[in-house]
Amino acid sequence: PPQVCHFKLVLLGDASVGKSCLVVRFAKGEFYEYQEPTIGAAFMTQTVSLNTEVVKFEIWDTAGQERYKSLVPMYYRGAAAAVIVFDITSRESFDAAKAWVSELQNTDTLIALAGNKSDLEAARAVDRDAARAYADQMSLLYMETSAKTGQNVNELFNEIAVRLPRR
Ligand code: GTP
Ligand code: MG
Repeated sequence: PPQVCHFKLVLLGDASVGKSCLVVRFAKGEFYEYQEPTIGAAFMTQTVSLNTEVVKFEIWDTAGQERYKSLVPMYYRGAAAAVIVFDITSRESFDAAKAWVSELQNTDTLIALAGNKSDLEAARAVDRDAARAYADQMSLLYMETSAKTGQNVNELFNEIAVRLPRR
């Protein structure tokens, strides 16, 4: 049987950027237009099969609302990977994502930046090339995703699974 590697992964980012929708898309293949705002944090697991091993993600989906902000460090502490999510139609959410990057920068956590809601191209407020340049500069993985259509969602988690250092 293939070896199973367990990794703690956390999702961070402003309220309503689509963190829960990304996790639900990845873990269940579903999308809800009326996803409830997360209270505190939610836990889910999902596996990714690579060539010779299986990666099992233990996922903490944090709440983006301001009132839960003080709880978030509890969830990212010790995480192997963080997906920092912003909404491509919101500059404010991109600024918030950058603040999360600064907070996690000098830890051992592998950071991926996800520009979500890529299906809303007509309402884009964050330039794709600028976001990518920022990610390159900070050595982050960058992907534009849509929890709604599923675009790049499995690819994002797959790429993280490939890049995570093995112990
Ligand atoms: P908090 O739990 O409050 O931090 O929010 P969140 O980041 O978990 O956002 P959530 O996943 O609840 O998504 C908020 C709303 O955004 C959802 O109800 C969806 O309607 C919408 N949404 C999420 N992802 C997408 C996407 O990729 N495209 C579009 N068009 N809408 C999305
Ligand atoms: Mg949520």
